[in-house]
Amino acid sequence: MNKIQMVDLIGQYQKIQPEIDKAVLDVIRSSAYINGPEVKAFQAEFEQYLKVKHVIPCANGTDALQIAMMALGFKPGDEIITADFTYVATAEVIALLNLKPVLVDVMPDTFTLNLQAVEAAITEKTVGIVPVHLFGQCCDMQPLLETARKHNLAIIEDTAQAIGADYTFANGEKAKAGTIGTIGCTSFFPSKNLGCYGDGGAMYTNDDTLAAKIRMIANHGQSVQYYHDEIGVNSRLDSLQAAILRIKLRHLDEYAASRNKVADYYDKALGKNPKVRIPIRAKNSTHVFHQYTLVLKGVDRSKLKDYLAEKGIPAMIYYPVPLHMQKAYRDSRYKEGDFPVTEMLCSSVISLPIHTELDESTLKFITDSVLEFLQ
Ligand SMILES: Cc1ncc(COP(=O)(O)O)c(C=O)c1O
Repeated sequence: MNKIQMVDLIGQYQKIQPEIDKAVLDVIRSSAYINGPEVKAFQAEFEQYLKVKHVIPCANGTDALQIAMMALGFKPGDEIITADFTYVATAEVIALLNLKPVLVDVMPDTFTLNLQAVEAAITEKTVGIVPVHLFGQCCDMQPLLETARKHNLAIIEDTAQAIGADYTFANGEKAKAGTIGTIGCTSFFPSKNLGCYGDGGAMYTNDDTLAAKIRMIANHGQSVQYYHDEIGVNSRLDSLQAAILRIKLRHLDEYAASRNKVADYYDKALGKNPKVRIPIRAKNSTHVFHQYTLVLKGVDRSKLKDYLAEKGIPAMIYYPVPLHMQKAYRDSRYKEGDFPVTEMLCSSVISLPIHTELDESTLKFITDSVLEFLQ
């Protein structure tokens, strides 16, 4: 059996190696490393895949969130509501722009924003909400859109973990994660479902004016070279990454299907054990299983992690500390116990390996090992 990894990027690369190698060499031979034709082609193909008017590529997912908030013209002190249970980047950019992160708890089943808590957190200073489509499925966007409309708030979707997931509205219409709110932000970090071979990210929007502003801010605040109308940043997706992403985009749905097969296997093997809760599938979203995350009940998590590690099975804790308990984000507004669901999740979740290259014998070994420990 090959070494088990949380994500097997080499195995995935080997399956598409001739195409990738050729695409990379072509970029090198063309010397169009920055803003070359590959970037434009990827942008157009991704727009088509997402059924969105504008994709604006950038350097990483954190930049995408930052540029989105800059483009929306938020002012220092404006309040942005987001989940306490997320990767730090979501809140980091809010704080960096001198906006005020307002944290709310998440749902115990889907791990996405608790919409009642969002409503309760809205004040006259609130300007935006950042739903995080955590672990691969969408936050419940329809009621969130209604809340945002009622209070005239922007929605910046953090879809770094849910590229390709579909949200279904009550009338049966579907939309891709990230194309529902005002701006969608994503990451092409190598381990993401659509990952490049370095850093990368993108913003999506259907709003032409906003798209032009985002593009300008990502390019030093200029739309005509050397004429700077806004304070911007330098955030580009390079041509090599775009060429790689064009190839991987063609496989994205097949990657989601193989991740779902892994999840189905885990569900079947572990679902009846009372000591674990398998991931709950949201009614109105497909799941692209960026992570397969169990909630442990009365189990010593670090002992389980060590037990699996001894057998060569990696497992990760996403995330061990709620944002409001992080040193950098400590705030007199919050104390331990304020976000009980997030705190419970941070102390009891564990994520098992999930990627596109896991075979059944490896999955059996992983689930047998988990069950052995739980006995
Ligand atoms: C939920 C979430 N938001 C934002 C990011 C930031 O993306 P990047 O690492 O590309 O800056 C990540 C990725 O790690 C993420 O998981």
